[in-house]
Amino acid sequence: MAVRQGGKWKVMDMTGNSLDHHLQRYAQRTSGMRASAIRALFSVANRPEVVSLAGGMPFLNSLPLESLAAEAASLINEDGLVALQYGSGQGIGELREQICQVMALEGIQAHPDDVVVTVGSQMALDLSTRIFIDPGDVILAEAPSYVGALSTFSSYQADVVHVSMDDAGLVPEALEAAIEAVRASGRRIKLLYTIPNYHNPAGVTLSAERRPRIAEICREAGITILEDNPYGLLGFDNKIHRAIRADDADNVIYLGSFSKTFAPGLRVGWVLAPHAVREKLVLANESATLNPPVFNQLMVSRYLHNFDWQGQIKAYQQTYAERRDAMLQALQTLMPPGTTWTTPTGGFYVWVTLPEGLDTAAMLPRAVTARVAYVPGNAFYADGFGSRQMRLSFCYPTPERIVEGVHRLAAVIDSELEILQTFGGPRPHGAITGERSPSPDTA
Ligand SMILES: Cc1ncc(COP(=O)(O)O)c(C=O)c1O
Repeated sequence: MAVRQGGKWKVMDMTGNSLDHHLQRYAQRTSGMRASAIRALFSVANRPEVVSLAGGMPFLNSLPLESLAAEAASLINEDGLVALQYGSGQGIGELREQICQVMALEGIQAHPDDVVVTVGSQMALDLSTRIFIDPGDVILAEAPSYVGALSTFSSYQADVVHVSMDDAGLVPEALEAAIEAVRASGRRIKLLYTIPNYHNPAGVTLSAERRPRIAEICREAGITILEDNPYGLLGFDNKIHRAIRADDADNVIYLGSFSKTFAPGLRVGWVLAPHAVREKLVLANESATLNPPVFNQLMVSRYLHNFDWQGQIKAYQQTYAERRDAMLQALQTLMPPGTTWTTPTGGFYVWVTLPEGLDTAAMLPRAVTARVAYVPGNAFYADGFGSRQMRLSFCYPTPERIVEGVHRLAAVIDSELEILQTFGGPRPHGAITGERSPSPDTA
């Protein structure tokens, strides 16, 4: 069993003796590494009878698997001695050139020398944090923010300070206020982490007007922007938003990925950085992995060369748009009054806020019993906020399953509201973006 002692988790046997004899030897930074308390629930949530609106898995069924299998075979036959060999720490030159063409769709003019290929953009997040953050440094991040980034930041002992968003994304005035407040507290801000397009988990997109303003604020404050953009090409309205990096090559580190536009199993992402930063990232990449997997990079490179990858993205957009519509329609029809949600124009996620007094983390076991799963809002905050909120994903289940899932969820919420009305009033109000949870450690 896990027991909390002196602010740290310890694994004990039933008599209270520690089962982990390495305990005194772990580095301090591991105290920020915790398995999610909801992980066990999610193993149940993955059962077929449960409609999971929790995960962010792309729906890969429209991929041309037979042609991809033939391509993989020909890669081994024709280029096997290269594909199966060690490679460069920066990634394959031809793929880096192709990545520049992909980024050009978002207005970015980049040189392949400034691109580093990584093991998914998660690795790019890790490397960027590694080269910038000392323990106690502040990273500004949207409220809420991507849970995988928060866990990377915490593993490098960064202090995350959240900045409010509204329907047009990160609020510039809130960013200025946060910078001032952190500075007044004597702490040092290194990075602004932002997901401008089809935000995970909030589902909103940063407006075109705010992008240059946010770049300007960060430039003037000496804060580097980490622009994380895995969903940018997955818009539902034939629109591609101009990247922040497109107008600020010196102060923005841009993270990209083939996970959502092609296939996450290949684990190919990238980082585009100002030249000096690029050099540090390559060194960090080499020390972490020696080099990103050559076979996978060549597979992606051939895919971009030999397949209609833009047509495939259109197929993904169509699938996800249908599912988004099904989810929004079901929420509109079934959710109780007082519930609100965002309206994403792309990506995978809807962010739902429940009526006052409800707690999505406390409600999750009952939802899973009712055969529906979601991610509670407090997983997306470093500071325990988000107790009334939840992330619903529409990427993976079919439209019919989504409707069924929202149906089950609405029934659970209705019965929670009934209990609340019978046994107690709403808890005190928190911030605009979410209430403080009584237990920040639940995710
Ligand atoms: C905002 C965001 N950044 C990064 C990642 C990591 O993606 P990758 O598969 O490229 O590592 C994800 C994955 O869900 C994400 O949503």
